[in-house]
Amino acid sequence: MNKFALVLAAGKGTRMKTILPKCAFPILKKPMIEYIVESLEASTIDETCVVVGHQRKVIEDILDGRVAFAYQEKQLGTGHAAMAAEGVLGDKEGTTLILLGDMPLIDETTIENILSTHEKLGNDLTVVTTSYKDPRGYGRIIRDKYGKIESIIEDKECTEEQKNIQEVNTGIYAVDNHYLFQTLKHIQKSAYRNEYYLTDIVHLMRHEYTVGTYTIRDNSIVMGVNDLYAISIAEKVLRDSINREFMINGVSMINPETITIGHNVCIEENVTIYPNTTITGESTIAEGAQIGPNTEIHNGVIHKDVSVKHSLVYDSVVHERTTVGPFAHLRSNANIGKENRIGNFVEVKKSSTGAHTKASHLAYIGDTTTGDNVNFGCGSITVNYDGKEKHETHIGDDVFIGCNTNLVAPISVGDSVFIAAGSTVTENVPSGALAIARNKQINKEDYARNLIKPKGKTVETIEDAKDPKTS
Ligand code: UD1
Ligand code: CA
Repeated sequence: MNKFALVLAAGKGTRMKTILPKCAFPILKKPMIEYIVESLEASTIDETCVVVGHQRKVIEDILDGRVAFAYQEKQLGTGHAAMAAEGVLGDKEGTTLILLGDMPLIDETTIENILSTHEKLGNDLTVVTTSYKDPRGYGRIIRDKYGKIESIIEDKECTEEQKNIQEVNTGIYAVDNHYLFQTLKHIQKSAYRNEYYLTDIVHLMRHEYTVGTYTIRDNSIVMGVNDLYAISIAEKVLRDSINREFMINGVSMINPETITIGHNVCIEENVTIYPNTTITGESTIAEGAQIGPNTEIHNGVIHKDVSVKHSLVYDSVVHERTTVGPFAHLRSNANIGKENRIGNFVEVKKSSTGAHTKASHLAYIGDTTTGDNVNFGCGSITVNYDGKEKHETHIGDDVFIGCNTNLVAPISVGDSVFIAAGSTVTENVPSGALAIARNKQINKEDYARNLIKPKGKTVETIEDAKDPKTS
């Protein structure tokens, strides 16, 4: 039996009050719709069709090449959105799993359980339900006196009595594909709103077909996200479950409520993560690493026994036993070698360093390749930008760069070079050289004595204080 998924993601998400269309809104830096498609990809679903409409390009770019798209030009409700998929799925034989694009926490196990129950019960339509103590906002499940599902009534259309029903529609349905598209044609516009409700398929199908329900106990998995408050709840649920999984697998977390780890992050055993740390994107953290506190890593590859404290690492790699921070910023393909020290207020952009290199304080390293055993003194700067273009700096092995040095790129510094503190180096430095590029110091004797007379003191009194013998 072929299995299809139909995901409705054409809505604007008016209640979000955001510019981004709702289904593209990120949770832990990943768009909501991507979570759903990832779960579908991990399941036994053969083909997925996503209905797009409002700002369709945004969703299409996120899912490019992974699903088929159907287009709902005007957003006239969930029933109308499902109908828009007729051109893609209409003539297929099999079961269609309908999902809403605003349920990011749905996982592949739940998807499989729904599909297998639907098949086992021999249903033509299985409505997936759950219960909430506070069911506001959801469509309520109306059952007849035998307990059989009769219809779904939207929150706003419920009588006071119906509002007390805690069993709700999750918005997930498993349905025979042919019957689905036949039935959709008969949906009428809601009298209450100018919309075609997908939920109407329940009362339309219940007499002629086998209609049943499947109830999910853990209601957080199927929560629908309608506003930014719900985003924060979904994010918390996801964060807690990810952190729990890591802790059980040997990752130590100090104050885990303050730690956020993204869905696609890999962390090995014996890693410690300190408070206020966020690790997202395709990041990996190897054994023995110490991350945080107050650290953000996005698409970072952190090798064994690295320490990163109070720092930012974006799209960058840090090799083993290096220390980063406090207050360092690695970005745009920084590739830091092993046993480096990237310390206080150091920024590294699109640059690589060899082994045992140090930039301990206040440095900017941009568009630079650096060899092994290089010391960037405090205040070293690679001057990579001339106001129009970026230029490269190349530095060899065993180089000592004195404090407050400017290396004006494009420039090459050979091996075993020593650069005097305070130099502004504009020409290449050959291997083995000592470069001094600063004005020579001149001492004008007694010059200052005549210039500087501190208030309330004569020059003599200063002199007297300096030399006790004269008093
Ligand atoms: C829907 C259900 C409700 C259920 C709840 C579960 C209907 C009528 N109501 O309500 O019974 O309890 O989900 O979370 O189905 N969409 C389109 N095109 C449209 C309208 C919506 O593609 O014209 C998409 C949206 O992008 C969204 C999804 O359908 O991803 C659900 O729409 P939403 O407005 O959030 O429905 P709810 O009011 O939450
Ligand atoms: Ca919703």
